[in-house]
Amino acid sequence: MRILSGVQPSGKLHLGNYFGMMRPALRLQEKGEAYLFIANYHALTTVHDPVRLKQDTWDVALDFLACGLDPAKTVFFRQSDVPEVHELAWLLSIVTPMGLLERCHSYKDKIAKGIAPSHGLFAYPVLMASDILLYQSNLVPVGRDQKQHVEVTRDMAIKFNNEFGEVFTVPEPFIPEEVAVVPGLDGQKMSKSYGNTVELFGDMKEAKARIMKIVTDSKGLEEPKDPAACNVFALYKLFANAEQRAAMEANYRGGNYGYGHAKKALFAIFEETFAPFCAKRAELQANPDFVEEVLRRGAERARAEAAKTLDKARKAVGLA
Ligand code: ADP
Ligand code: TRP
Repeated sequence: MRILSGVQPSGKLHLGNYFGMMRPALRLQEKGEAYLFIANYHALTTVHDPVRLKQDTWDVALDFLACGLDPAKTVFFRQSDVPEVHELAWLLSIVTPMGLLERCHSYKDKIAKGIAPSHGLFAYPVLMASDILLYQSNLVPVGRDQKQHVEVTRDMAIKFNNEFGEVFTVPEPFIPEEVAVVPGLDGQKMSKSYGNTVELFGDMKEAKARIMKIVTDSKGLEEPKDPAACNVFALYKLFANAEQRAAMEANYRGGNYGYGHAKKALFAIFEETFAPFCAKRAELQANPDFVEEVLRRGAERARAEAAKTLDKARKAVGLA
């Protein structure tokens, strides 16, 4: 089974990215042949600052390696090191109805936020479909907001296969139910555009201050509380094992347990989980040649696979 996902290098990664996308993708590297790339071509649809794009791309590479990406198991690369993806995107674009792209929520949301409606932004899902189909992926772990893009990819693959013969594997999205949407400090979806995030590799003091600011209701210390209705618990349970989760639930229901206590427990489990990743990240930062070599080797393996699919697709349409 081939598993593929991509992440845009467009800012500091946060807990929503970690639980929604990184952790599921990293867990799947044990289950099949995993491909993971840094979607820097996609990031160009919104980032027009070359220094920042380069820095963010590098940071994402460090973040993934620090959080447990094993380059011996996962093919890890920069999207722009496999330019074949653009040729396939063109071949897909000829079977992509305008209406299919016009219906994409992500495009409409971005325009509503004031991002200029460029052709690149509109064609974003075609490039994403190309990322997925180029490697004949079976499973695509993404957050819920990206599910439609995977569905659009399926439509394109089926349409192309019907018209030109069986070239592409039709992929499935993979969205672990319990983490479909990670809430932010204010209870909305955690997102860098809402300023409600806890960063993975920011300053620990800052992370603590932000966790202490999570919005809760105003129940007093002694009152019993409903864990299912609380943002602090929603985040805590993503880190916790079954035992820790049950203990926290009992504390909520029992009363005499305040939201301040729950926030301290959340920070403690956050720190315990991320302190080793922070140490690993510092090590990687001191060893850029190693990181560059991982990405170079990943691109080499990815390109070899990409060439096979592209060759098939070119033959199918009559270019080769
Ligand atoms: P942001 O909303 O901060 O801009 P991105 O859109 O760059 O984040 O998301 C990158 C990946 O992380 C995607 O697969 C996305 O679905 C996932 N993701 C981001 N925020 C969340 C969240 N709050 N809950 C679950 N998954 C998320
Ligand atoms: N669009 C995805 C996001 O914003 C990133 C991405 C690009 C991707 N190509 C992909 C994700 C292919 C999965 C598969 O998060």
